[in-house]
Amino acid sequence: MRILIVDDELVSREKLRKIMADFGECIVVDNGADALKIATSQAPPDLILLDIIMPEMDGYEVCKRLKAERSTSDIPVIFITSKQDEDDENKGLGLGAGDYIRKPFSTSIVKARVRTHLELKKHRNRLEEIVNGRTVELEKATKEMQVEIAERKQAEEALRKAHDKLEWRVEERTGQLVKVNEQLKIEIEERKQAEEELRLISSSLLKAQERERKRISLELHDELGQSLLALKLQTSFIEKGLEEDQTELRSDCQAMLDHIVGLIEHVRRICKDLSPVILDDLGLTAGIRWLVENALKSHDIDTSLDIVNIDNLLTNEQRLLVFRIFQETFTNIVRHSCSSLTSIIIRKQGGEISFVIEDNGKGFDVKEAMGRDFAKRGMGLSSMEERAWMLGGSVNIWSQKELGTRIEFRIPIEQPEKT
Ligand SMILES: Nc1ncnc2c1ncn2[C@@H]1O[C@H](COP(=O)(O)OP(=O)(O)O)[C@@H](O)[C@H]1O
Ligand SMILES: [Mg+2]
Repeated sequence: MRILIVDDELVSREKLRKIMADFGECIVVDNGADALKIATSQAPPDLILLDIIMPEMDGYEVCKRLKAERSTSDIPVIFITSKQDEDDENKGLGLGAGDYIRKPFSTSIVKARVRTHLELKKHRNRLEEIVNGRTVELEKATKEMQVEIAERKQAEEALRKAHDKLEWRVEERTGQLVKVNEQLKIEIEERKQAEEELRLISSSLLKAQERERKRISLELHDELGQSLLALKLQTSFIEKGLEEDQTELRSDCQAMLDHIVGLIEHVRRICKDLSPVILDDLGLTAGIRWLVENALKSHDIDTSLDIVNIDNLLTNEQRLLVFRIFQETFTNIVRHSCSSLTSIIIRKQGGEISFVIEDNGKGFDVKEAMGRDFAKRGMGLSSMEERAWMLGGSVNIWSQKELGTRIEFRIPIEQPEKT
């Protein structure tokens, strides 16, 4: 410990120096100004023993200045003075001194009091050290916390920015998608309309074709049919006018008549093909049987029929459409399939009629046939689809090489009892 003794009286100074030697290093000065210098130096004392009556600056003034200064206010001061009054003591203690010892003093009292104050100072120093240590730790922790908070803020800011950016991009993308979607909807709508228009055009084409067929059929029947009949009459008239012995001419007339009858029959068949009046006269079921006889059996293709009567379920127009699908299917069987056997099933199931036509021919690649470009493609399969569509149904074609072909189409019956 370091003790500063301030006394202008040599004897008392030396006496104190001796007593204090037990407590550590002693610095001795004889005036207040020096005392203040040492107290504010780099190595301040732990305790000051201060005389009061001194020339120039008395002990009170020194004490007052020590207590006023922040760096020296904690140094304990003990007045050691010849001033005996209680008022003086009160004044000294009032200025912040820790103790007041009157001269002449007893060594043991001075020692005891100094020891007490030094102990106190030691404890205070220790406490201060602890407090300082804790303060440093706290400051460090605070700084670390501040750094952490700043980093967190930065991270939060970066996150917020990233989030904003993402949100903006999502919004932008959503906007683009909505636009594309709308565009797509418009395109789909336009395409649907175009398809619808195309279908209407092709169905009116098919209707026009039917009308034209009917017209040609009538013309053939009325003009060619009548002319052939007239020719037949004339020929038999000529034959009847021949003499008994004109046998050669008679057989020529007979051959000609046979030929004319064949022609009439041929024209009649063409007329029926072109405009199947049989539908109007006998109905669809009979029409299909007639087709089987004329289109399949005449080509040595055996046919099994499992058909219900559906005539009163369809309108005239619908019957003609169904008839044409059968006609097209049979034409394909004869032309392409090389089959020996076919089967035809017509059933009424719930609200629809199903038609199944099967052959045991060579089969074909449906995708390839339907995908051929227009120039190389026949119209049969397409017109079948078209007619099925006009009937409110659809065609399903299944075919496999060497196994045969199966054509199935279903049509809804809107009004069960049509005539
Ligand atoms: N029953 C069938 N058996 C074998 N091949 C068939 C059959 N029906 C259709 N095809 C094939 O499908 C093709 C397309 O038929 P289609 O559209 O009616 O045109 P086209 O008969 O004028 O060639 C035919 O050329 C043929 O190769
Ligand atoms: Mg065909």
